[in-house]
Amino acid sequence: MALKYLDQLDLKDKRVVARFDFNVPLKEGRKKMVISDSTRIDLALDTIRFILDQGASKLVLMSHLGRPKGKRVDSMSLEPVADYLAKELGKDVILTESCTDRGIKTVLGLSTTKIVLLENLRFHNEEVNNDPDFAKTLASYGDVYINDAFGAAHRKHASVHAINLFFKNKAAAGFLMQKELKALDKVLHKPSKPFVAVIGGAKVSDKIKIIEALLPKIDQLIIGGAMAYPFLAAKGIEIGDSLCPAEDVNLAKNILKAAGADKISLPKDHIVATSLDDPSPKQHSQISIEPGHMALDIGENTLADYGSKITRAKTVLWNGPMGMFEKEAFSKGTFGMARALAELSSRDPEAFTLVGGGDSVSAIKKAGLADKVSHVSTGGGASLEYIEKGSLPGVQALRFGLESTN
Ligand code: 3PG
Repeated sequence: MALKYLDQLDLKDKRVVARFDFNVPLKEGRKKMVISDSTRIDLALDTIRFILDQGASKLVLMSHLGRPKGKRVDSMSLEPVADYLAKELGKDVILTESCTDRGIKTVLGLSTTKIVLLENLRFHNEEVNNDPDFAKTLASYGDVYINDAFGAAHRKHASVHAINLFFKNKAAAGFLMQKELKALDKVLHKPSKPFVAVIGGAKVSDKIKIIEALLPKIDQLIIGGAMAYPFLAAKGIEIGDSLCPAEDVNLAKNILKAAGADKISLPKDHIVATSLDDPSPKQHSQISIEPGHMALDIGENTLADYGSKITRAKTVLWNGPMGMFEKEAFSKGTFGMARALAELSSRDPEAFTLVGGGDSVSAIKKAGLADKVSHVSTGGGASLEYIEKGSLPGVQALRFGLESTN
């Protein structure tokens, strides 16, 4: 069954209840919390404006923020999101006290009320417990349901999962969800070849499933970041004091024995330091590293090799940094890869470059190149799980209704 999209539903005079992922980073402002990166809200605005332009009578917005564990935590209130939305939309946005507040129905009954934002869904344990009664309460605020929260679609939570019990044939995906799924499907199901995946980050155990899922599909698998060192150790190469949990070495050994392991590229030189605070990290031109030194970034020859593999690609999927890019001394590899993706996209309009996963998204933004690649996913865990499994609980429930997913 094909997923229904927002523009396939009649929204005129309907009360629309819509789930977004407004889980944005906040920081302490002078008087209250302020949003430090509004990307997730900005990318939801097309869906919100479309719902309003179609003549919906009410729009009830829902989201989680952080992990407050079932109780009110003031620093995780959606108040800064309500203020931001009101400013962007040029309309009043009423923030409720909670998601189950009796006053919500009264407020929705007022002719002057148009847009309501429910307070953080995760102030209620029932949200993460996928509680059907809680979902029923949320559903009672709308005649139709829109899910535009790609970033939360891997969670089997009430506002993305159980809520679908109450909207048979009256539920659809929003435009951001549509865009995210289209980009991931393009990479997973119809990648133009050569297809190069760049996987980095701290631990092999975090990425094992994605590596296993990708190996049969890709032409090259580039590995960087701390997780490269268990692979080198598994090949019997000295890695000095680089991060290397024994469990990860075993996982790496298994991957190196799997079909397709010949497509894997590992670092052949490194930026090494004696500690994270070493004032003078060094380019280390051999593959093996002596004790007393740890690798914290890929070296210049590795970057040149990885960059040239990207230059020849038609599809690139990037998940995870090449080193500890938060520190300038160890950021060249990660920013170099960001540049390689951006250059490929600008040189070859047919190439498709997708960045998914929290740290690589921060890296491409920090490099100022987020708008130079084909797609930057708003979902960290969600994009990884989609690549691994090819589906997400929230998307399945939306597509098939709930009976067939239970
Ligand atoms: C995210 O930030 O990846 C999403 O908002 C999901 O948040 P969660 O990992 O707390 O469920």
